[in-house]
Amino acid sequence: MSRIRSKKFQRKITSAAAAAALINNGDQIGFSGFTGSGYPKAFPGALAERIAQVQADGQELRVGVFTGASTAPELDGALAATGGVAYRMPYQSDPDMRSAINKGVSDYTDIHLSHSGPQVRQGFLGNLDVAVIEVTAVTEAGDLVPSSSVGNNSVYLDMADRVILEVNAWQSEHLEGMHDIYYGVELPPDNVPIPLTHPGERIGQPTLKVDPSKVVAVIETDSADRNTPFKPLDEDSKAIAANFIDFLTNEVKQGRMPKELLPLQSGVGNIANAVLAGLLDSDFENLTSYTEVIQDGMVDLIDAGKLVVASATAFSLSPEAAEKMNDNAEFYRKHIILRPQEISNHPEPIRRLGVVACNGMIETDIFGNVNSTHIMGSRMQNGIGGSGDFTRNAYISCFVTPSVAKGGDISCIVPMVSHHDHTEHDVMVIITEQGVADLRGLAPRKRARSIIEHCAHPDYQPLLLDYLERAEQTANGLHTPHDLRESLSWHIRFLETGSMRP
Ligand code: COA
Repeated sequence: MSRIRSKKFQRKITSAAAAAALINNGDQIGFSGFTGSGYPKAFPGALAERIAQVQADGQELRVGVFTGASTAPELDGALAATGGVAYRMPYQSDPDMRSAINKGVSDYTDIHLSHSGPQVRQGFLGNLDVAVIEVTAVTEAGDLVPSSSVGNNSVYLDMADRVILEVNAWQSEHLEGMHDIYYGVELPPDNVPIPLTHPGERIGQPTLKVDPSKVVAVIETDSADRNTPFKPLDEDSKAIAANFIDFLTNEVKQGRMPKELLPLQSGVGNIANAVLAGLLDSDFENLTSYTEVIQDGMVDLIDAGKLVVASATAFSLSPEAAEKMNDNAEFYRKHIILRPQEISNHPEPIRRLGVVACNGMIETDIFGNVNSTHIMGSRMQNGIGGSGDFTRNAYISCFVTPSVAKGGDISCIVPMVSHHDHTEHDVMVIITEQGVADLRGLAPRKRARSIIEHCAHPDYQPLLLDYLERAEQTANGLHTPHDLRESLSWHIRFLETGSMRP
């Protein structure tokens, strides 16, 4: 049976090239796609070809690219390589897009994922000309069955002047019923409480709405999601996971958390996935998750019967895990709910549910200020993503990282961070392979000693302590003592010599 069950939509079937011809210079386009899943597979490549053709003819065709979060080489990579992306928001992790941003070719607004949809609705980012959304199917009534991510799709479908749909036959038909699309979010002053009191609760409908008169093209595809494999677990990531689990065990022992814990949030990246793998070998059971992405580690926890329900906005799976998901979506939809990112990342349910957040980072300073986004102060890596949404509102906010990067030439604990994403006020626990620094209730100088003692690499520990002690001698105040001439000298040394070591 055709995935396009509405006759009205069948009449709009066309090629990706014909759809790409509908794009004008300066258009702002809202794409589906979140951490390599649910992004349109055919249209972006066709648009990239058209941009190259227009450029070859000596004319300009540049567009704004809005998404849920990161996408894949076929979208971010293909468009960035043309130089035709004038503007990008709210998160990316593609090498070509990163390069276009760091060369100043593409403007990038790195915003909290929970803010991105509402800011489009508010009109802060200008008009949304087109939405290009991948779906699993179109129902008889003309509603859209989402695919492997929801992201900002409901916002883009509502706000765009024109809509292009990609119906992807690769996505399992059993995804139908996994999603929970809540349409109750209003702009102030009309917004009302989000009635979500448990990660497994359904408060919306299984499909996305679209005004059929706005649909200008429907493209049929049959292509897999990006699904990058995770790096194999190394000794450091296993040690980080073990330290995180010790920390959780102690929280239960102290009576600060029930034995089935509180809903877990796990960030993007290899370390965050390793932490989930660690939970698999732990004694914890009946776990729940209120998070942003479902990674391999979470699917394994469901398979093992340890994770009862996971609420997220997207999958971020390896090719093997994606195949398993596609083969068994009927089973997994009993345990997984995919929601719009304005709900999965909304401060209100995160705070109400008492989420335990665990995110990766680039570096932290000795006082617990965290940099999640920039390499040596200026180079964008990926973006803040949902880390701020969860960190600021979590019951307990943890950050995990190896204590060193680049073979030990970089210490991930530095005197002062070279860029600030999460302030010391939001960061409660730092975890490296060396140990755990529990910063709750500690004043800055005690935080510094705890981070240096428990988390810094032995090669950098004495250097950090030396910095702190000298700052205590010379600073103009002893609350958060810094030597401002020296505080960024480690980064400068790395840029000049290739190592933070003196
Ligand atoms: N200074 C310079 N480079 C550093 C560094 C530091 N202190 N720490 C790590 N790096 C480099 C690594 O060497 C690696 O470089 P490479 O790609 O050239 O090999 C790169 O940064 C990524 O590091 P990796 O150890 O592979 O980390 P990861 O996959 O666990 O990702 C973040 C870490 C911070 C990049 C990732 O978690 C992120 O983008 N976070 C922000 C968004 C977020 O937290 N979203 C979750 C919300 S739900």
